[in-house]
Amino acid sequence: MKLSLALLVAACDALVAPPAPKRATQLRAVAAPQDSYKITLLPGDGIGPEITPATVKALVAAGKTKGVTFDFDEQLLGGCAIDKEGTPWPDKTLESCKAADSILMAAIGGPKWDGNPRELRPETGLLAMRQQLGLFANLRPAKAIPQLLDASSLKREVVEGVDIMVVRELCGDVYFGKPAGIYTDDAGVRWGQNNMIYSEPEIERIARVAMDVAQKRQGRCCSIDKANVLDVSQLWKDVVIRVHGECGQGVELSHMYVDNAAMQLVRWPKQFDTIVCGNIFGDILSDEASMLVGSLGMLPSASLPSEGPGVFEPIHGSAPDIAGTDAANPLAMILSAAMMCQYDLLQPDLAKLLEDAVEAVLDAGYRTRDIVNEGNADETLVGCKEMGDLVAAKVAELAA
Ligand code: IPM
Ligand code: MG
Repeated sequence: MKLSLALLVAACDALVAPPAPKRATQLRAVAAPQDSYKITLLPGDGIGPEITPATVKALVAAGKTKGVTFDFDEQLLGGCAIDKEGTPWPDKTLESCKAADSILMAAIGGPKWDGNPRELRPETGLLAMRQQLGLFANLRPAKAIPQLLDASSLKREVVEGVDIMVVRELCGDVYFGKPAGIYTDDAGVRWGQNNMIYSEPEIERIARVAMDVAQKRQGRCCSIDKANVLDVSQLWKDVVIRVHGECGQGVELSHMYVDNAAMQLVRWPKQFDTIVCGNIFGDILSDEASMLVGSLGMLPSASLPSEGPGVFEPIHGSAPDIAGTDAANPLAMILSAAMMCQYDLLQPDLAKLLEDAVEAVLDAGYRTRDIVNEGNADETLVGCKEMGDLVAAKVAELAA
């Protein structure tokens, strides 16, 4: 049974007795914990088919410790779907996703499809999925992992203790704004056009999520815009200020231009707690934030709708250059499965178990190629499959 985010928002608005202030939205998709869950699995392209079985192994091991089972339905998305079905987002995949309790995805894309027309590109499938499932709230945590501080390109004192949550709007902005396209004018000049556009309700719903997230963290929220130049950003800022007044009690709200934010993130990232931004600014800043913690290979994400299942996926791409070599790092996808347990399945114990197991495996010195320090005798280089096996074994051990 699902409890919709929209209903929760409406309910919390309706239930508060005046003059109590409105509450922010709440991020949960399932009404109560279950013994068994239907999960749509989207391995996608590149390293996806390697990190997916490693993740499934760890997740199943975690479920076993609490008598929770998973019914996986593997479906095609992205390049593999283009090759087999002639479309990056097959109807069958959409149907499976709609019927699932939650969706666990690996990664899509690769040079093989880069030259395709837009409708036959893997990314087009991903964007269609986001839009059709209404995945407007993208949560991208960037938390420094003590065992990996030296893997960051920034100084230890800059990254130690970094704990940022980027709340990125995922269904609007220049990604979906119309009109869009490439056209030729009467003089024969070609133009490329996209429209950076947000409606007030679109800004309001993501701002509510950000207030809720900030309230559950350190209570600081920085809203990113380019209001000194862009009208769409001025509206963004005005609406965020209004929503903060309505349901942001306890939250200290600040505003930053996106160019300054890009600089501040590498200058002194510890000034940030929760960051809320539109789709394109969030795309760029979340990649930047991920580098703070050492490796893109470590970061999970959640994309949540107001109703129905969310999608949980690592932030990293499909890394086609190392696909098929067993060199990929499955930890970001395993941590994405942990976020799924937390946000969609209401199984916080399973989430914690997976996170603790990942930490314990890192503590024991096991590293995939992307996070290994060559020459450090305390570290052991392992492949993708072995890393999955190690986390699964650690899960069982920790729960025993
Ligand atoms: C991301 C990715 C996607 C995006 C691409 C693959 C369409 O970069 O999830 O950040 O731009 O949103
Ligand atoms: Mg991106």
